[in-house]
Amino acid sequence: MPDGFRHWPVTATMGRVTIGILTSGGDCPGLNAVIRGAVIKGDRIHHESFVGIKDGWRGLVEDDIEPLPRYDVRGLSRLGGTILGTSRTNPFDHGGAARVREVMAGHEMTGLIAIGGEGTLTAARRLSDEGIPVVGVPKTIDNDLSATDYTFGFDTAVSIATESIDRLRTTAESHHRCMVVEVMGRHVGWIALHAGIASGAHAILIPEVDVSLEQICEWVEMARDRGRAPVVVVAEGFVPEGVEHVHAPRGLDAFGRPRLGGIGEQLAPALEEKTGIETRSATLGHLQRGGVPSAYDRVLATRFGTAAVDAVVDKQWGSMVSLIGTDIESVDLHSATTVLKTVPRERWDEAAILFG
Ligand code: F6P
Repeated sequence: MPDGFRHWPVTATMGRVTIGILTSGGDCPGLNAVIRGAVIKGDRIHHESFVGIKDGWRGLVEDDIEPLPRYDVRGLSRLGGTILGTSRTNPFDHGGAARVREVMAGHEMTGLIAIGGEGTLTAARRLSDEGIPVVGVPKTIDNDLSATDYTFGFDTAVSIATESIDRLRTTAESHHRCMVVEVMGRHVGWIALHAGIASGAHAILIPEVDVSLEQICEWVEMARDRGRAPVVVVAEGFVPEGVEHVHAPRGLDAFGRPRLGGIGEQLAPALEEKTGIETRSATLGHLQRGGVPSAYDRVLATRFGTAAVDAVVDKQWGSMVSLIGTDIESVDLHSATTVLKTVPRERWDEAAILFG
């Protein structure tokens, strides 16, 4: 870092209010663009200083916090992951609001920007209910948060999944096989729906819609009978009709939610047995969260970051920045975290007309 850059902003930070930023929960492309947008606007327009909290709520309850000057966020919008690190630590397992208040006071933090998904923002909402000055920024590849039309990370994940399915299709075609592709999404099917439509899948299976094994086999055979290599896209949270509970025994995360994954591996042999078509499965897993953010996600994340500092200046504690249509608005964290945004049945029906 050239010396001139290091020293220029420091002189301008005297007497400023300090805002803490953390990224928590599963990472996703665009987190760094939020951090950059918030810090640059906060510094330039509102004359605020920032501290970076390491690894989400862990860094806050363990007081692992460092200054986050403007020169540390240069060029960040194209960088995947998060420069602050993340974890699935639940602050309520580590002293809750009392501990958070104590650490914030130690750093003279007047506000907190928490960037996270459903688990993180639920914790933020509970902290806000107990008087912690916090503003939320919605991120998740799953796109499962209510009160925002889209979360950043989703567009990148869908693009990665679509490209992967396109690639899997070419090898399936060479071998005249059926390919089952499992994508992430937790308990909603947004990634599966969008990547499945984009890649022209012959079946898209999502948690919101019950589908029998017989129906899936029928779609697979229809595609095979037309000389196609059948492609089935399945969301990790899908449970086949008549089955009570399907996910790999991976336990619960710190927010008490099951770790999903494994349905693709279960489905593939079942389809092969019933249809006689050689079938393979591929689980895309964390590939969907890696690498550089798409242009769409960089823009959305940057807009969320700049809007979040405005919300802090306005003391809109307990709020979350949100995309409504094409506008960035401020909504209550309660409305964002109490109901999951699931795929409406009619959206799946639209796609299902093309199955088989
Ligand atoms: O919420 C994002 C997500 O990627 C889900 O789609 C997935 O079920 C989960 O996180 C995986 O979590 P982890 O990174 O802890 O394995």
